[in-house]
Amino acid sequence: MYKRILVGFDGSEPSKHALSAAVTLAKESNGEVLALTAVRAPEAAELEGEVDEALREADGPLGKAITWGKQEAKRAGVNCTFRKQIGHAAELLTRIAEESKHDLLVLGRRGRSPVKHWLIGSTTDRIVDHASCAVLIVH
Ligand SMILES: Nc1ncnc2c1ncn2[C@@H]1O[C@H](COP(=O)(O)OP(=O)(O)OP(=O)(O)O)[C@@H](O)[C@H]1O
Ligand SMILES: [Mg+2]
Repeated sequence: MYKRILVGFDGSEPSKHALSAAVTLAKESNGEVLALTAVRAPEAAELEGEVDEALREADGPLGKAITWGKQEAKRAGVNCTFRKQIGHAAELLTRIAEESKHDLLVLGRRGRSPVKHWLIGSTTDRIVDHASCAVLIVH
């Protein structure tokens, strides 16, 4: 079944649910999980060589969520890597899924936005439209 699982992880509660589902599936299939966080680099920071700072800024709530996720994966005995990468979330996740030949992309229905969308967030919405592999949306 699904052995190479990519999770869109923004540290939000829904993305934590997505990670739990991915870990459960990977345990069953003896597969592995990559939890990827897309980080936006402000143009200026990029120009001034402050990209590292932009990455560090994502810590705090995200750092705590990653610590939780590592424990969750360890408890299940699942190989799970956490990675932060600069890019636009929907574009980055669909591209990495394709390039790295993931067979499942797991996402939360919503993310960290304070705006409460009617149905699903814009990242998940775009990925459902563009992904080349199966997508699981966890509520
Ligand atoms: N920066 C990100 N990096 C990785 N995955 C993300 C990122 N942002 C969102 N996701 C994934 O997409 C899911 C849904 O988040 P999404 O961004 O679509 O909704 P939202 O934040 O509530 O609304 P908005 O459209 O305003 O961003 C998250 O649970 C997570 O799985
Ligand atoms: Mg969002």
